[in-house]
Amino acid sequence: MERIKLFAPATVANLSCGFDVLGCCLDGVGDEMIIAKNSEKELRITKITGQDLPMEVDENVAGVSAKAMLAALDENQGFDIEIKKNIKAGSGIGSSAASAAGAVFGINKLLGEPFSASQLIKFAMEGERLASGNAHADNVAPALLGGFSLVKSYEPLEIISLPSLGELRILVLHPLIELKTRDSRSVIRQNVELKKAISQWGNLAALVSALYTEDYELLGRSLKDEIIEPVRSILIPFFDDLKALALTSGALGFGISGSGPSVFAMCKGDIVAKKVKAEFQEFYQDKNIDFDLHLSKINSEGIKILA
Ligand code: HSE
Repeated sequence: MERIKLFAPATVANLSCGFDVLGCCLDGVGDEMIIAKNSEKELRITKITGQDLPMEVDENVAGVSAKAMLAALDENQGFDIEIKKNIKAGSGIGSSAASAAGAVFGINKLLGEPFSASQLIKFAMEGERLASGNAHADNVAPALLGGFSLVKSYEPLEIISLPSLGELRILVLHPLIELKTRDSRSVIRQNVELKKAISQWGNLAALVSALYTEDYELLGRSLKDEIIEPVRSILIPFFDDLKALALTSGALGFGISGSGPSVFAMCKGDIVAKKVKAEFQEFYQDKNIDFDLHLSKINSEGIKILA
């Protein structure tokens, strides 16, 4: 195989109670990437459309992730990477993760799969390190593995895939203001009050249980975040209004997607999800802030090969 074309999906990290340890993969929005072998023994970013991003390998999340992987293999085959960005940078739905995961997935395929999908996660995390200053896995893991991923530990890196529920729908509202992960990480306090930690790990454990027992209602009640949301939500226009609107319109739960400014409503079934979407649309249209809405199922496959 000389060339591969991919769909690199958006992801929702944290899912309220799982800061830096939980994420899920979407199928409604993602980037397209074309990766091809070259004969120059060089790793190159040859084209980026849709966003103004660095073309230098060492300054591009796809470039640094691919470079880390090739270094681990001691491989000097060259590759050209083309990225069509559909996920806006700084949106909170895993834009950098999609490019990083897509790059390592595609190159791995073209090299005959020396690594498993799980083994690729640590290379894609290098892209996150470049983008935000922190190598978290809660976007790149679900992008590579599909479904829901739980980071059991970072050292050593241990990722657990969780079951998904067929009727789950994720509605993402992206107010078109840029909020860099690096900046929205800088507002988080480093110490957590024990009372809040107890509430958070109770919710995280309940969320995992709800996925196994297919308990939609418990899943929704577990989407609570007493630690990060109160600090970060201030940076998101109309966060409290949207939360109230989502919950009164029938969403199971609502929270910040990754580091924001996107927010997500988790819903059971298309009817509720479309109702929440219509409510969000109506509410936001006169707020003088442009926005995107993405309605998605859970993507259980992760990155998809298009050609
Ligand atoms: N867990 C990360 C954060 C995700 O919330 O900063 C970034 O998309």
